[in-house]
Amino acid sequence: MTDLGDVLVAGTGPAAVQTAVLLARLGRPVGIAGRISERSEAFFTALNGSGVLRVEVQSERHDALRGEGRPAQRFQGYPSVTGAWDTLVLTVTADAYVPVLRQLDHQVLGRISRIVLLSPTLGSSSLVQEYARQQGLDPEVISFSSYLGDTRWPERTPGATALTAGVKHRIYAGSTAGSSATLDTLSDLFESVGITLELCPRPVEAESRNISLYVHPPLFMNPFTLEGVFATAAPGAPPKYVYKLFPEGPITPSLIATMVAMWRELTAIITRLGGTGVNLLAFMLEDSYPVRPESIAPADIAAFERLPTTHQEYLVYVRYASLLIDPFSEPDHDGRYFDFSAIPIRPIHRNAAGAWDVPRMPKEDYYRTKVIQGVARHLGVACPRIDALLAAYEEHLVRARTQHAGDPMSEAFEVRDFADDLELICAGIEGAR
Ligand SMILES: NC(=O)c1ccc[n+]([C@@H]2O[C@H](COP(=O)([O-])OP(=O)(O)OC[C@H]3O[C@@H](n4cnc5c(N)ncnc54)[C@H](OP(=O)(O)O)[C@@H]3O)[C@@H](O)[C@H]2O)c1
Repeated sequence: MTDLGDVLVAGTGPAAVQTAVLLARLGRPVGIAGRISERSEAFFTALNGSGVLRVEVQSERHDALRGEGRPAQRFQGYPSVTGAWDTLVLTVTADAYVPVLRQLDHQVLGRISRIVLLSPTLGSSSLVQEYARQQGLDPEVISFSSYLGDTRWPERTPGATALTAGVKHRIYAGSTAGSSATLDTLSDLFESVGITLELCPRPVEAESRNISLYVHPPLFMNPFTLEGVFATAAPGAPPKYVYKLFPEGPITPSLIATMVAMWRELTAIITRLGGTGVNLLAFMLEDSYPVRPESIAPADIAAFERLPTTHQEYLVYVRYASLLIDPFSEPDHDGRYFDFSAIPIRPIHRNAAGAWDVPRMPKEDYYRTKVIQGVARHLGVACPRIDALLAAYEEHLVRARTQHAGDPMSEAFEVRDFADDLELICAGIEGAR
C-alpha cells in the first residue's frame, strides 16, 4: 500500500463529505476546500460550528460508509489554499476542474503528486493532465468511472452531514501511470466498504464506463423531457417521469433507437481513443440494475454486440420495460411491485442566488455531450445522433432565455462550445499518442 500523503478534497457537496470521511480512514490529514458561494457558505457555517464532517446511511446494508472525520484544515475560496498537499481529490463537477486548478496557488499545485477525479467525463484526465503539463507539472491523474453511489443532504440544504442512500457494488478506475500504487491503495479502501474497484489500464477505460454518458442524452434531450424540463408547467399539472414508457415518460421505440445509435457513435470515439467500449446491455444490467432472466436471457446479453440493430433495440426496450417496477421487490397485497421508475422530470428552478437554473440532469450532460462532440470532430468521427440531441437541447436553452427575458439566468442557459476545455483535451489526446 502506498501512502496518499496529505489529501485535499476540493468541493463542498455531499459527494465531497462522503469522500473526505472515507479518505480520513487512511490515517493522514484531510483538508477540504470550496469556492465562495451561497451553497458553500451554508456548508462552511455548519462545519465551523461542529468541526466534524459526518456521513449517515439510509440502509444498514451500507453501514461501512457511515462515519465521521475532522478536517485538518478548511479553505473557503480556492486561492486561500495553503500548505503542502500530496493528493488532490476533485469532487466538483467535471466542467469545474480547470477553474478550480487555475485558482490554486502555483506553489500549492506544484507540490501535488496526484490528482483524483471522482466523477469525471470522457476526456477529463486528458484535460487535467494537459493543464498540468502546460504549468510545467506532471502529476499522476486518476479517473474513476463514476461516484460510488447516491449521497445527498438529509435536509436538502448543504450542511456538515451527508446521507448516503445507495452504493454501487462496482466502479472502475484508471491512472495515467498505468498500474499504480495509488490505485492499489484506493482499491483496498473501497474493498473495505464493499465496493469492488476494477482497475483499468488507462483513465479513458474508466471514463467510458459511466452509464450516464450513454443514456442521459437520449433520455433528457428529447422533445418530451425537454418540454418537462424547460416549460413552466401549470400549477398542479401531473408529473412526468424520466424512466417511464410514453406517455408517462419519454421512452418510445424511437428514443431507444437513438440510444443504441448513440452508443455506436460513442464506441467509435472511445475506440479511437484507445479504449475498448462496452457491451451496452451487459453494462446496463450488470453495473446498474439487473432484470430477471425471464425478461432478458443471459445468452442475449452476451451476444448483444453481435446482434442486428433491431434486435439490440428490442432488448434495450425490454430492459426499460422490465425495470418500470423493481423486479426483485416484494409485491404488496394488490400484487404491485415497487414503482422503480417513478423518478420525476425536474423542471428549471430558481437557485440559491435567485437566478433561473437548469437541474443537474441535463445541465451536466450538456457539458459532457458537448465534450464528446468536440472530441469526435477532432478525431474525424461522425456523430449525427449526438449532433441532433445537442441541437434540440440548445434550441430549448435559447427559447428559455427568451421566455424568461428580464429575469436573472444562470450560465447554464448559455449555448456554449467549451472551447478552452476542448483545446486542452484535444492537445492532451495528441500528446498521449
Ligand atoms: N452525490 C451523488 O450521489 C452523485 C451521484 C452521481 C454523480 N455525482 C457527481 O459527483 C459530483 C459531485 O456531486 P455532489 O452531489 O457533491 O454535487 P454538488 O452538491 O453539486 O457539489 C458540486 C461541487 O462543485 C462545485 N462547483 C460547481 N461548479 C463549480 C465551478 N464552476 N467552480 C468551482 N466549483 C464548482 C460546487 O460548488 P457550489 O456549491 O458553490 O455550487 C460544489 O462544491 C457531480 O459531478 C455529480 O454529478 C454525484
